[in-house]
Amino acid sequence: MKFFVDTAEVKDIRELQDMGLIDGVTTNPSLIAKSGRNFKEVIAEICAICPGPISAEVVSLDADGMIREGRDLRKIASNVTVKVPLTLDGLKACKTLTGEGAMVNVTLCFSANQALLAAKAGATFISPFIGRLDDIHQDGTELIAEIRQIYDNYAYETEILAASIRTPLHVKQVALIGADVATCPPAVIKALAKHPLTDKGIEQFMADWKKTGQTI
Ligand code: E4P
Repeated sequence: MKFFVDTAEVKDIRELQDMGLIDGVTTNPSLIAKSGRNFKEVIAEICAICPGPISAEVVSLDADGMIREGRDLRKIASNVTVKVPLTLDGLKACKTLTGEGAMVNVTLCFSANQALLAAKAGATFISPFIGRLDDIHQDGTELIAEIRQIYDNYAYETEILAASIRTPLHVKQVALIGADVATCPPAVIKALAKHPLTDKGIEQFMADWKKTGQTI
């Protein structure tokens, strides 16, 4: 499974890229606002750090506006992935932009039928938001399983990008189901490496090593 990091914080992206832990980056207007940075400047900087797909989201709500913004965003770097919302206009923009060779991430997906339409529109990635479904007491991981089955039934090539991941448990669940990608906040990616027994084991080994009086 590929990992994308869900942030517009360049320092975090650089750190995870240097560790070899990420395959791409997702941003959204809220994350750009949180960064306090100029949208195009920060996307250009991220694209230079990570060679994988970098999602940059359009803000127009009509297809023509999305297509215009998508074309403009693609000029920033060849790894820009245009992110469009899952609306009829978004699907229309997806069809046009993918037809021009763009990578398109269709975002804000909350149902299997929406994901089916995104695949038909030729989306490169579909982003089902599992955490936001959990927030309203629906099982977000069930949606990932449904989409996996539908895409496999018809051999759709659209990649399932599990989004709105909040915990390491979400990561394990979507990996078991077979999501192609998980996009996670930096803290969740780092938390995957943590286990209390690992820490305890290191502590014990260090204490015993000290008793030997040796150095390496
Ligand atoms: C994905 O592309 C979105 O940016 C993100 O995963 C949304 O996560 P949230 O629901 O925690 O805001």
